[in-house]
Amino acid sequence: MTLPTLLAIGTFNDWDVPDMRNGFDLVAISSISDLAGLDAGVRGQVQAVAYKGHKPFDGAQMDLLPALEIIANYGVGYDAIDVVAASARKVSVTNTPDVLNDDVADLAVGMLLAFTRNMALNAQWLARGDWAEKGDPPLARKFSGARAGIMGLGRIGREIADRLAAFKMEIHYHSRSAKDTPEGWVWHATPEALAASCDYMVVALVGGRATEGYVSAKVIAAMGRDAVIANISRGSTIDEAALLDALEAGRIRGAALDVFRAEPRLDPRFLQLSNVFLQPHQGSATLETRKAMGALQRANIRAHLAGKPLLTPVN
Ligand code: 8YV
Repeated sequence: MTLPTLLAIGTFNDWDVPDMRNGFDLVAISSISDLAGLDAGVRGQVQAVAYKGHKPFDGAQMDLLPALEIIANYGVGYDAIDVVAASARKVSVTNTPDVLNDDVADLAVGMLLAFTRNMALNAQWLARGDWAEKGDPPLARKFSGARAGIMGLGRIGREIADRLAAFKMEIHYHSRSAKDTPEGWVWHATPEALAASCDYMVVALVGGRATEGYVSAKVIAAMGRDAVIANISRGSTIDEAALLDALEAGRIRGAALDVFRAEPRLDPRFLQLSNVFLQPHQGSATLETRKAMGALQRANIRAHLAGKPLLTPVN
């Protein structure tokens, strides 16, 4: 019996590989950029793609895989995949929602807390011996009881809001329409109105064209001088140049960011700032969650090939 050909694109973890070989003829490349270089005979066999990466996967690349039926994305955000092009070619697309909600929300809160309580600076203070030499480090700021603003109250946004509510925060949010929330949460019809109403604004929007630059220069200008912005969604959701201008000029208190426009490269202006707490896209990066994401990715591929309903379809 010939096994279906699975093309793994991206750098997968060791534990993913045995399961990708189980029942599949596995072909692996480390980046979508290597696709055109694959032997045409091999490309012609590929029925399923396990995709891991943030580089664009467009219609022209799909056309290099004439037998392609499914692209299973490793990640909840599928903005790298041209879903319209996939649908036009009758290619199913799946993602990995929910399994990472807790981790991403934990990191959002963790980054804000680390920033607000000067944890990185304080750790350096201790490691450099400044405690004994200079005494206590400068005072931090209070986190509990402030006003939280969630930009995009989807599944991850909701987890973040629930956590910040446990920090006794007032919860404000902006989404297209008001949602069913605990009593007292305040919906704002525009991103500017949300920005003007909170001390800690967390961007939890989906990525892609629809939210490109959604947190615009105008939204950033609406934030208070003492406000902090966090982003765990996609770098594309914020006008990064406007954010850097605001941070450099001290027009906002600071930023806690896990995602960037040109990641893994960073605008060098970020590295000159002392009012930021930066992470290299770590939202879902725990052993437990990465295992669950890989398992869900493969479960979608197996369901498709068995003619069963997809677990987490996108199109
Ligand atoms: C990435 C993510 O998938 O789920 C998402 O949308 O951004 C992450 O979990 C992860 O970095 C692997 O590429």
